[in-house]
Amino acid sequence: MPKVTLHVDGKKVEQQVKDNANLVVLAGIRQLPELKYGCGMGRCTKCTCVVISGGEDLAPPNWKEEKMLGDKVNEGYRLTCQLTIQKDIEISQENISVKPPKKTTAAITK
Ligand code: FES
Repeated sequence: MPKVTLHVDGKKVEQQVKDNANLVVLAGIRQLPELKYGCGMGRCTKCTCVVISGGEDLAPPNWKEEKMLGDKVNEGYRLTCQLTIQKDIEISQENISVKPPKKTTAAITK
């Protein structure tokens, strides 16, 4: 069982999770209540974390992460709701402020 270390709100939380766990799902059932999250679907960025260690064992960022985080995916930022945990990982949600990209509306002209 992988160990998750989460830094959030000045606290360090360590927890064993099942293989292939999704941390937002665990947070939703109060098994990791410290985790910050919102939609759970890759749309709001409230679950954004920085991977401190163990990132090499994660799948590469998916299209939702690339769309919502832009260049930050190259700096270790990930959407926690999009991660499947298979090995030990250490992540931080300290001092993270990532806003979703603004929606653009196409102008309709005649
Ligand atoms: S919880 Fe909304 S993007 Fe992850």
